[in-house]
Amino acid sequence: MAAVDASSSPPAAITCRAAVAWGPGQPLVMEQVEVAPPGPMEIRVKVVCTSVCRSDVSAWQSKAQPDLFPRIFGHEASGVVESVGEGATEFQVGDHVLTVFIGECKSCKHCISGKSNMCQKLGLERRGVMHSDQKTRFSVKGKPVYHYCAVSSFSEYTVVHSGCAVKVGPTVPMDRVCLLSCGVSAGLGAAWNVANVSKGSSVAIFGLGTVGLSVAQGAKLRGVSKIIGIDTNPEKQEKGKAFGVTDFINPDELNEPVQQCDKNDVYRMFFSCLQIIKRITDGGADYSFECVGDTGVVSTALQSCSDGWGVTVTLGVPKAKPEVSAHYAFLLSGRTLKGSLFGGWRPKSDLPSLVDKYADKEIQVDGLVTHDIQFNDINKALDLMLENKCLRCVIHMTLLDN
Ligand SMILES: NC(=O)c1ccc[n+]([C@@H]2O[C@H](COP(=O)([O-])OP(=O)(O)OC[C@H]3O[C@@H](n4cnc5c(N)ncnc54)[C@H](O)[C@@H]3O)[C@@H](O)[C@H]2O)c1
Ligand SMILES: [Zn+2]
Ligand SMILES: [Zn+2]
Repeated sequence: MAAVDASSSPPAAITCRAAVAWGPGQPLVMEQVEVAPPGPMEIRVKVVCTSVCRSDVSAWQSKAQPDLFPRIFGHEASGVVESVGEGATEFQVGDHVLTVFIGECKSCKHCISGKSNMCQKLGLERRGVMHSDQKTRFSVKGKPVYHYCAVSSFSEYTVVHSGCAVKVGPTVPMDRVCLLSCGVSAGLGAAWNVANVSKGSSVAIFGLGTVGLSVAQGAKLRGVSKIIGIDTNPEKQEKGKAFGVTDFINPDELNEPVQQCDKNDVYRMFFSCLQIIKRITDGGADYSFECVGDTGVVSTALQSCSDGWGVTVTLGVPKAKPEVSAHYAFLLSGRTLKGSLFGGWRPKSDLPSLVDKYADKEIQVDGLVTHDIQFNDINKALDLMLENKCLRCVIHMTLLDN
């Protein structure tokens, strides 16, 4: 447990437990880390729960940034404000908060545009440091430990910019609402804000993890009539139904004869999947969504949507090959390819209303939690993700009752 020096003011450093990744894909090691006090406009948060998102796992496995280790991952989290840095007057000690991986400063060009959540000051942080001073707030035995997305919630305490936290009411369950901090909001927002799906339309969703199922939920709530889920994991068929999926396709289990195909096996697999989507939707889905994290699937999603007005939204974060290739004719024929982070939501302005919808039972979150896991066992959650045997694992920082 954390040792806090309560007598000093301003707040002192805290020593607490954090799950540290010492190298790409290496099991996390529980370490005693020192967490610096919050700097100006920052808050220090006692993490209550953090769920594990596919983006954490992909970044942890990636060898692309070997210099950013040791590192503390985690970004989908709920917690309680433990101390407040100079000027962070929006928060008080004891406030319940959600952390967010893209912040909202409310003063930059994007924040005041009202049409973007790509804050220029607190946007997606990729260098493992804090936005304000490009330094870390964590250390192990004097050695700096890098952050992830300026959140790093796989730690009992973390420091975030006050623009990267959103207050929530004291009664919402912290062990479930943490999913609104990333995956669920990203999916709902992709359907509602980015694609703006319409009643009676058709959608094709590639990948039925938490993100894809949340797109399905968003589509269902808008009255979309055909919600086609495509996933290589057969277990996602039943899960999909619970979130509104009307038609399920497993590309690995297709018996459709491939009409014309001279490409590789993956292309063949998706080619016959495309035939089915086109048949179900009379020529192509009105909207398609890539929720896998594979740029090859982005091309397939674009091919699956309709000429003239089809919109493809890509949400996945690719593990490899970042370039998307698409025949220009798909664009000339009137299709649109776009993407979004965090479903286009501006966290401070928009997230509280989503939390209210959850509290009012207008949106489903609890059904996406497949495992509740103690912090000590966090590597189990990573294994479950790697084995594709979970939706969200919620990590509880304090001991669960057995
Ligand atoms: N844009 C954002 O704001 C945002 C937010 C959260 C997550 N993400 C990204 O979205 C993606 C999905 O996240 P998640 O947490 O739901 O992941 P997940 O791993 O839980 O779900 C991915 C699903 O895709 C399926 N799949 C894998 N390969 C497939 C293929 N070739 N064809 C069809 N289905 C396939 C898997 O079986 C799984 O059900 C990840 O890339 C993640 O990094 C983006
Ligand atoms: Zn901004
Ligand atoms: Zn995420």
